[in-house]
Amino acid sequence: MGSMIKECTEQMIERWLTQINSGNREIDVEKEIIATAGEIIATTSFGMKDEKAREICDKLRELQMILFKTTRYVGVPFGKWFNTKKTLEARKLGKEIDKLLLNVITNRKNNNNSNNKENKGSQEDLLGLLLEANRKVDGKFGKTLSTRELVDECKTFFFAGHETTALAISWTLFLLAVHEDWQIQLRDEIRELAGDNKEIDINVLSGLKKMKWVMNEAVRLYPPAPNVQRQAKEDIKVDNNFTVPNGTNIWIDVVGMNHDPTLWGDDVNEFRPERFIDDVNGGCNHKMGYLPFGFGGRMCVGRNLSFMEYKIVLTLLLSRFRFKLSPSYQHSPAIMLSLRPTHGLPLIVETL
Ligand code: HEM
Repeated sequence: MGSMIKECTEQMIERWLTQINSGNREIDVEKEIIATAGEIIATTSFGMKDEKAREICDKLRELQMILFKTTRYVGVPFGKWFNTKKTLEARKLGKEIDKLLLNVITNRKNNNNSNNKENKGSQEDLLGLLLEANRKVDGKFGKTLSTRELVDECKTFFFAGHETTALAISWTLFLLAVHEDWQIQLRDEIRELAGDNKEIDINVLSGLKKMKWVMNEAVRLYPPAPNVQRQAKEDIKVDNNFTVPNGTNIWIDVVGMNHDPTLWGDDVNEFRPERFIDDVNGGCNHKMGYLPFGFGGRMCVGRNLSFMEYKIVLTLLLSRFRFKLSPSYQHSPAIMLSLRPTHGLPLIVETL
């Protein structure tokens, strides 16, 4: 899996080098990294390549923008009739995405049935595991997920699995462009572990401690998943005066918590990765105060994969390039389901 992530990143680096050599050093890193992360999840999880993967990613992004515009009506009675045009557009896109994914699943099933040796490697990806689990339960064969459910699982992974990590990397590059001292510290850490060798050995990545603090701090300041949702399944008594009624939809404001000085202290808005040196919660004074990956039984299942991807992509980029903020950058983080830079993230990228 690591080598696939490396391969997709190296293709992006080649594109950047071509652009820089042609005299244009300004790159919208958010756009580039989201596209690359889409390719990574498509290859590592579904064994898909190029055009098909890009088509699904583009349609998911279109759907995301429509859903973001209508999200305020979720849970409102008859809410979907408030903006019929958008609701219909969302439904049409949803169907198109389902059809594309269904094609991928059917092709894989057919390949598995015909025992096609060429596809053996890609059968060990997420889709392969889902299909296998669908056949076997506790070692016995049995059906667990309907095709509809399989498509939905794939859709969740596709969406949850690429944009969040891409945004963690993008916001990190923004922070490193502003805090050049940390850019230098990370480059030194990579060099200490890997030497001057540009062929990074994926196995050394677990030693990148400072990079982990930087990731924690980046997703604290700019959480890619800006809120977490829950629904009360019974009346919940919070204290003597306050009860959350059964059925209440709750949005937990992760951005708000991560910028709350009563939880973090007066330096809450500063970029200080060192707050994570000795404490996985970064010194937050409430044990449920730092939740970039959610909590409990529904906590993010992809967090280990995202750490791996983050470290590989950042290591490759920092070993080749220096990043500075472009004069055309406008700081305007906005919640569009995920937390994104409204006007993209143009950085000046120089080769080392
Ligand atoms: C920096 C990267 C990521 C962040 C910040 C992030 C954040 C989150 C958050 C906040 C949740 C909701 C948890 C809750 O409700 O308690 C979640 C759920 C989920 N994430 Fe991630 N995620 C990231 C990367 C990934 C990746 C790489 C994958 C897949 C390859 C992934 C797959 C999922 C899935 C499938 C769920 C739903 C889990 C469930 O409902 O049981 N995520 N993620």
